[in-house]
Amino acid sequence: MKTMYWKDDLLCLLDQTLLPHETEYLICGTYQDVINAIKTMVVRGAPAIGVAAAFGMALAYLADEDMEKAAQEMKDARPTAVNLFWAVDRVMASDDPLTEALLMYEEDMDTNRRMGMHGATVIDEGDTILTHCNAGALACVDFGTALGVIRAANQEGKNISVVCDETRPVLQGARLSVWEMQQENIPVKLIVDGAAGRLMQEGQINKVVIGADRVAKGGIANKIGSLMVALAAKRFNVPFYVAAPKSTFDHENSIYDIEIEERDPEEVLGFAGCQAAPWGTEVRNPSFDVVPSDLITGIITEDGILDPL
Ligand code: MRU
Repeated sequence: MKTMYWKDDLLCLLDQTLLPHETEYLICGTYQDVINAIKTMVVRGAPAIGVAAAFGMALAYLADEDMEKAAQEMKDARPTAVNLFWAVDRVMASDDPLTEALLMYEEDMDTNRRMGMHGATVIDEGDTILTHCNAGALACVDFGTALGVIRAANQEGKNISVVCDETRPVLQGARLSVWEMQQENIPVKLIVDGAAGRLMQEGQINKVVIGADRVAKGGIANKIGSLMVALAAKRFNVPFYVAAPKSTFDHENSIYDIEIEERDPEEVLGFAGCQAAPWGTEVRNPSFDVVPSDLITGIITEDGILDPL
């Protein structure tokens, strides 16, 4: 099942808000459709957001829209994943937005496979790997970053298993990462986010591998909950790896200066339209954590394993 594909001058996005129980594609015919899909998380995950945005810019170009305006609106869709800005700038600098978007689509798959190959070198036979959120094929065009490392280690015949944090508030771990691992027949267990430290304390986790929305000076940004996992990993001496392509690197900003998206309180108050907290409860809903460099063992990229910035 593809995260997205381009057909007959339309962008088809697998609607990730419906997974794993329904598999439907949302057809985007305008760049505004793509912006809405990014905002509502029909498409999510840093590399997937980037490639979808590139196709969105191609739609704007084909419809003879004002490209500067479209670029600004696209960049305003979500603030934290740098791949969005990288992708829009790259398309804007090209002569042919559609050809560039199609190239980025192909590159993403190649990048992830190379990242997987490098990342698999740090995974040992029999490892149990904890991951947070979904940095899988669904967060990219295919294969995935953190789950790509796990896929590659599995393909090499290492007898690994995976533990997925459910990842509140919208459950990318429970809904998406568990589903991806099940599709590949990789042994997987689901835990609530608060159980990650407990499993490390029990000695049940050998490695942590997560993705990133941004790698910058001072650390990385990734889904809320990543910091607590990193702190527990440090305390219990579990190696903590971040898998991210070079398109996720921001060489201009400190990680502490970037905008952390604050999402709708409704995501926290309940789930799937069912209210859990008392009516009128005040909420904070930061969508991303900053994990400082000193908690990171290495950054797995398509060109090898690097030290944090
Ligand atoms: O809010 P999301 O689902 O877009 O957040 C996604 C993540 O935090 C991923 O871990 C990150 O984008 C890396 S995806 C390869």
